[in-house]
Amino acid sequence: MIVAANFKTNKTRKETLQYLKTLDEVDFGNVKVAVFPPATALFERDYLGAQNAYPTINGAYTGEIGLEQLNEFNIKKILIGHSERRHILGESQEFIAEKFEFFKKEGFEIFYCIGEPLDVRKKGIDAVIEYLKIQFEGIDLEYEKLVLAYEPVWAIGTGVSASIEEIKETHAKIRQFTSKPILYGGSVKPENIKDIISLQNVDGVLVGSASLDVNNFINMIEIAKGIE
Ligand code: PGA
Repeated sequence: MIVAANFKTNKTRKETLQYLKTLDEVDFGNVKVAVFPPATALFERDYLGAQNAYPTINGAYTGEIGLEQLNEFNIKKILIGHSERRHILGESQEFIAEKFEFFKKEGFEIFYCIGEPLDVRKKGIDAVIEYLKIQFEGIDLEYEKLVLAYEPVWAIGTGVSASIEEIKETHAKIRQFTSKPILYGGSVKPENIKDIISLQNVDGVLVGSASLDVNNFINMIEIAKGIE
């Protein structure tokens, strides 16, 4: 089981350190934990990853960080393809694939996010899979350090996760494209995590809002510890 926290644009460096110190005391057991804080709050922890970086060692990319800045903290995990970067920051599939290739070459564990908007979901499962296929373009779905995260855009930050049936069906379809772990993301919280991670083809969760409170996050790790 993988339980990952995406802080997005939340928490200061000081707040993050406080959070990590609490987390450091927790026995993760058989659960693989990952935490993605903002770039200003990177620290050296095995379980820490970057929410984003530019596919470069260094250079002239104003406002971005590159490999050099990640190496300073021994960061070896990265989120790529998150829907907020696709839809708010306007990242194209071509650029996302370029980023994937760069960090794959550098041996990063890549948490690659995919997910459809509401208008696509309304058309049914076949339309969803066609949409997700486009997000697979240029992506090595058998990369040994790939973790796929299925996050329907309409379930992110809304408080309403996809239904158990929708998760089950979509993950089963995604399984046909990869043998790597598949996480579910989108309004996961202590109240619904157990039902979600108990499903076949769900290998963990990527949690936004509900991960911001460290006790909530620890609670979710504890629940995941009880699941094979
Ligand atoms: P959420 O975010 O848990 O707040 O829905 C999930 C994500 O975007 O990774």
